[in-house]
Amino acid sequence: MYTAFLHTHSTLAYVVFAMLIITIIRWITKTANNASFTDTDRKWVKFTVLAVHVQFLVGLILYIFLSPITQEAFADVGEAMRNSKLRFMLVEHASTNILAVVAITIASARSKRLPTDKLKFKNLALLFSIGLVLLLSRVPWVNWLNLG
Ligand code: HEM
Repeated sequence: MYTAFLHTHSTLAYVVFAMLIITIIRWITKTANNASFTDTDRKWVKFTVLAVHVQFLVGLILYIFLSPITQEAFADVGEAMRNSKLRFMLVEHASTNILAVVAITIASARSKRLPTDKLKFKNLALLFSIGLVLLLSRVPWVNWLNLG
């Protein structure tokens, strides 16, 4: 069960990063070209947010129930805060990524309400970029890319 969830979380990270990079380039290009917001744009927003939300849920399940790293941290939170590896998973990865998910979700919700297509693209470009930077800042690179 743990391995399946970790594998899913690890693989979905590639999907999430790829979709964010593709869409950010799309939003910037469309802002620059004064392009109109099409059904295809709506689908890109929808599926990117879906991938991010699924990733968030898989991460939450790992965090609460499955990961031996967080289970060890929960056993003694005081000690975990003094251990950089445990603190990273207990606090930094989870909290920063939750902020990123919020930024990406707000981007999608706001883009439905904004009056002009240019504003929609600008809003998506800005908030998706903030989300991407936050996510990239707290990837456990050593575990993910097997650098250990
Ligand atoms: C939504 C964007 C997120 C991305 C892109 C992401 C990405 C990653 C990556 C690349 C790993 C390393 C996987 C590996 O070792 O192969 C990881 C591990 C982990 N993530 Fe996330 N994560 C996200 C959100 C979250 C959230 C919101 C939580 C918890 C609330 C979370 C909890 C965890 C835990 C507990 C691990 C360590 C699992 C282990 O090694 O035992 N993740 N994450």
